[in-house]
Parts: sequence; structure tokens; C-alpha cells
Amino acid sequence: MECLFVGAGDIASEYAADLASTSLSLAGVCDLDADRATALAEEYDCSAFTDLDEALAALDVPLVVNLTSHAAHGAVTETALTADRHVYSQKPLALDAETARDLLATAVDRGLALGCAPATPRGPSQRRAAGLLANGRLGRVGLGYAHAHVGRVTDWHDRPDSFLQVGPLYDGAVYPLTLLVSWFGPVERVRVADALNVWPAREQRRPSAPSHIEATLSFATGPTVRLTASFYAPHRSREFYGLELHGDDGSLYLSDTGAMETAVDHVQYGRNGRGHTAVPSQYPASSLSYVDAVERLAAGIADGEPSRRTGRRGAHVVAVCDAVETAARDGGPISVADCGATADPIPEPVVRPSDRDDAMEAAALRLPPIGFGCSRYRDGEYVDRRESIATALDAGYRLLDSAELYGNEHRIGALLSAPGAPSREGVFLLGKPWRTNHRREQMLAAARGSLSELGVDAFDCYALHWPEAWAHRGPLERLAEKPIAEQERLTFPEGDSEIETASVSLARAWENLEAVHDRGLARTVGLSNVSVSQLETVVETGRLRPAVVQVERHPYRPRRDLIAACHDRGIRVLAHSPLSAPGLLDEPVLEAVGEDQGLSPAGVVLAWNATRGVVPIPSSTTPRHVVSNVAAVAERLPPSAMERVDALRDPDFERRG
Ligand SMILES: NC(=O)c1ccc[n+]([C@@H]2O[C@H](COP(=O)([O-])OP(=O)(O)OC[C@H]3O[C@@H](n4cnc5c(N)ncnc54)[C@H](OP(=O)(O)O)[C@@H]3O)[C@@H](O)[C@H]2O)c1
Repeated sequence: MECLFVGAGDIASEYAADLASTSLSLAGVCDLDADRATALAEEYDCSAFTDLDEALAALDVPLVVNLTSHAAHGAVTETALTADRHVYSQKPLALDAETARDLLATAVDRGLALGCAPATPRGPSQRRAAGLLANGRLGRVGLGYAHAHVGRVTDWHDRPDSFLQVGPLYDGAVYPLTLLVSWFGPVERVRVADALNVWPAREQRRPSAPSHIEATLSFATGPTVRLTASFYAPHRSREFYGLELHGDDGSLYLSDTGAMETAVDHVQYGRNGRGHTAVPSQYPASSLSYVDAVERLAAGIADGEPSRRTGRRGAHVVAVCDAVETAARDGGPISVADCGATADPIPEPVVRPSDRDDAMEAAALRLPPIGFGCSRYRDGEYVDRRESIATALDAGYRLLDSAELYGNEHRIGALLSAPGAPSREGVFLLGKPWRTNHRREQMLAAARGSLSELGVDAFDCYALHWPEAWAHRGPLERLAEKPIAEQERLTFPEGDSEIETASVSLARAWENLEAVHDRGLARTVGLSNVSVSQLETVVETGRLRPAVVQVERHPYRPRRDLIAACHDRGIRVLAHSPLSAPGLLDEPVLEAVGEDQGLSPAGVVLAWNATRGVVPIPSSTTPRHVVSNVAAVAERLPPSAMERVDALRDPDFERRG
């Protein structure tokens, strides 16, 4: 769709830079400054204008993108709408509530689209934060603190006049306001507000609007938020555009409500009573570009459904700013018109094709790209995993690898039922009966016992821990609470000289696992520690297809044949013990690839798994590792790096112990 840019300043160049990757094309540029208009028009090979009416008369473009300075937004949008053009406007929509409402009314009357920046609620970090809210991690949200520290515009902007004219309220505050409205719907009232004229005496150029605003806002269906917008507080102060939300069950910190890119620690979550943990993206995250929102608006227009959704939100945000000014001048509370603004729909869970191997059978289960290993075993010792599993849940792990043998299902259950835990549907729970429970009644009892300890009705997947059966020595409930000798007596049934086995074939054990499934105790079934031929036995003799196969996998032991056999059949592979092969993390090649990719050696191994569509399930008791391991699976290694890691394969690799 052809469009006309009105305003040819810095922001116009940002919009124009990404046009080539969209279905939009630039037909003309209009700016009061002829040199600026001509420069941008020449760069994009289109017409230049200095008069908007003339531009609208000369060009039959359906869409005007209003990129003028703050104070001109209202008038330019009005002219364009009146000329029957759809409009996308930079923020703010206008500088007073009445003008903003009139623009919206004109767009409605004429059946035109009206979009308004910022589109940053769709930024990758903002969406991740929205996901935590949608998942109920905060419970009811009672309070918020939002900052918009625009900073000394006279220091950092080469043309600060437009900013000085409108003040931080109509500039910076619009970012947190837009985001909060997109999450919670409209602001009902401004409870109190204050406006200061604080500014360095030495500065010649001063804001003509208050340089610092404080306001307390009540959202109709959300929190009470204290908003600070400032030109005086430097934009390099500790708080920049940070937002804190506090709920009954947990807190959320978003470091920049206006960010267009993401970083590991942009979003942090703190379950009540616990510190904040970074929640990194688990998928390759693309940054937001300025033209994305214009392209979306254009798509609606092309489909005959001109949207005014962000226009309504923009009008409401202006109404909030207007009410803040009134409350600062006359005292609050001041009611705010909703202008038809509504909260955005809850973002869809981000599932991208890239989390699965290209060659994978389409029926394969969709899994999170990383799981968290919950085993208590660590170098021959038992360690308490409560704290690290809690950190993993806070950091966003959505797949827990549990097992009867690990003995801590009751502790995981306690974490999953505590306030602030992810919803049941938000976690993939994998369980494994121990090899002493392969007979039917024992396996059913094991499944029921584990489920009751976990506090859930069914496993998402229940997988045979090992293909070979051992003698039963008794039930294994709450194993972690038993003396170590008793744990070992029950789980490693010693015979006269070696472990005592049981005569339950793999085919029979699989049948028993199917019985667990048939009774509704497991949504899917799987295998662990199997060879290709054992997998084939199950596939040939079993009634149910395994959904998951969990095996030791790392660069020394890449299990290519097994992975191919699984992926061909739509079976997902989980890599257990991905990091602990002796010497692996000291491999110079992992260090070198990591340097190229911005990853640690451990991160390279995890990204190497994710790139092949394999889900690694590392364990860690170091919070920094828990977080960086999630962030690593959002990375994809290029083919050359994959080859270098593949070359570490060691056919003679034997795990100790
Ligand atoms: N099906 C089976 O038979 C089977 C067998 C074994 C394991 N598993 C599953 O696989 C899970 C993981 O296996 P695992 O516990 O053997 O070990 P692993 O995940 O391969 O390795 C854990 C070790 O790696 C370190 N580590 C983790 N992240 C790191 C990072 N980013 N940088 C440097 N070091 C890092 C940990 O130290 P820190 O704690 O300091 O981070 C720990 O020493 C188990 O919990 C279990 O769920 C299944």
C-alpha cells in the first residue's frame, strides 16, 4: 500500500529504513522544511512537498503516516482524515482530550482507520511480561510503579524544542500508559497528581510545560499505579522506563516499557517472598520495527476492516494526560473518558516452527525448547533441589523432568501448588516409574503415588526410566525423606552379587505403561535410555506410539541414529545429562563457537540441541546458570558452528558411574 509520510525528521528515517521489508511503499514526503523533505524523498525516490494540502491533492495515497513534531500531530491527522485518508500517527494522538476524541469521531464518521503509536506493547519483552500476567503468576495485581525518565532533552536531543513544548507527560509517560492500558484496559480516574518545574538554573532552554509529573492512577480492572514522568531525572538514572507491578502472589519488573528489542533480564519475576529472577525469551526473538504497526494497519484497510483500536487507545492515553494536568492544577480525583479503549487480547503462547527440526514428523508433540532436570543426584551425592526448581519455575521453565527415583515429587508438588506457580496447563510434567515397578500393579501404583505427590491428575508424559526391569523391594513414596541406606535398598535391589533383575520384558513393561495411559493417568507415554532397536521393539509391538524418548545426549554422544529414528516417527527427543560429560565444558571448540555466538560453552551445547529440535533438560543449582540456560535455547547455531560441535563426537565415550 502506498503511503505519504508527513514529517521528515529523525523518526521518519527510522520508519523509512524498514519499508523495504514490508508491503508498504513511500509515494511522497511532506515537511515544512523543504530541505528535509527533499533529502528523504530523494533517498526513497518519491515526491517531496512542503504543503500538506498540496501533497494530498497530488497523491492518491490511501494512508498518511503522521511523523510530525508532537504539537502538530492533531492538526495533521485532522487534515488527512478530512481528506478521506487513513492515518497512522506518532504519539501522542493530540495534546488535549477533546481534539483526540474529535479525531476518533471523524475517523468513525468517515469509516477510516486511525492508528496511533507507540506499538511497543507488541515488543518482545512486553509480550513476555504480558505472558506472565496472563498466566496468573502475579495473582490479582494491586499496585504498580511506572517511570518515564525522558531525561534532559537539551542534552541528548539535537532538536529538543518540540519536547520542551509538551513536557514529559505527553512524551515519555505515553509509553507506560499505553502498555498498562493494553494490559488492564482504561484508566478510570486520576486520584492525585503533582507537577513540578524543576530544571537546572544554568540551562538557557527550559521546558514550557512542567518538567516533572507525579500522578496516581486507578485502572478500572487493574492496579493503582504511581506514574512518574520527568525531564529532570536523567534518562541514565537507575530507573529509566522501568515498570514494577505487584500482585497478591508475585511481582513483575519490566526494565523498559518502550523497548523494541529484548535482553535476558528485561523481564523479571519474583514470586511472593522470593527475589526477582530474570525471565529470558526461550525462542529466537525478533525486535519490533517502527513500520510493523503501520503495516498491520494497512493490512486491515486492505481487508476492508479499517482498525481504530490503537487510535482509541491513543485517544484514551491523551485523556489520561489531560486529566493528570487537571488534577495537578485543581486537585483530584478526575474521571477519565475511556474513549472505547480496551485491553489487548491475551497474547498467544509463542510457539514457532523453529523449536522443531525441519525433518520432524508433523505429528510430533509441541514441547517447550528446554526442560529442567529435577534429579537429586549430583556427583554421587543427593542435593536438595527445592530452591533451584523454584528458581527454574520463576525463570520460565515449562517442562519439568521428574521421576519416582528422584524422590522429590512431593516437593515439586508443593512448589506447583504455591501462590505464583504457573497454571497446571502452563507446565509439561514428565514422570518416570523406576525400574523396580515394571509389573502392571506396581506401575499403576507408582503412577498414582507420584501423581498424588505432585498434586495433579495426570502426567503430560509418563516414560519408562529404563527398558530393563529390576526386582521390586517396596513402594517408593517420598523417597527423599527416607534414610539414604533405605533409599538405596529400595531402588537398587541387590541380589547375591549383583542387582536382582525381574522378568518383565520391554514389550510387557510398555503394555503396562499403556495401561497407565488408558486409565487417564498419563496424556502421553515415552521411553528413556533406549537404543534404536529397543525403540523399534516398542514401536512394533506397542499399541501406543511413544511421544518422547529421553536419552543421554551431548556433543560426545550425539545419538544421531536414534534422533533420526525418533524424528522420522514424530517422537520428540529429550537430552538428559547434556552438560555433565567429563571435560565437555572445557572443550576449546565450545569456547570458540561460544565467542562467535555470544554464548558460554554450556550455552553452545544447549543451543546445539535446540537447533536440532532436541529438548535439553539440564539441571543446575546456580541461579545464574538456571537463567542463562533458558536464554541459550533461544539461540540457533549456524551450520558451520553445528559442524564444529558435531566434530566433538567420541564413539568411545563412556559415562562414569
Ligand atoms: N533418564 C535418565 O536416566 C536420566 C539420567 C540422568 C539425568 N537425567 C535427567 O537429566 C537432568 C540433568 O542431568 P544431570 O543432572 O546429570 O546433569 P547436567 O544437566 O548434564 O549437568 C549438571 C551440571 O552442569 C552444571 N551446569 C549447569 N548449567 C551450567 C552452565 N550454564 N554453565 C556451567 N555449568 C553448568 C551444573 O552446575 P551448577 O549446578 O553449578 O549449575 C552441574 O554441575 C537430571 O536432573 C535428570 O532430570 C535423566
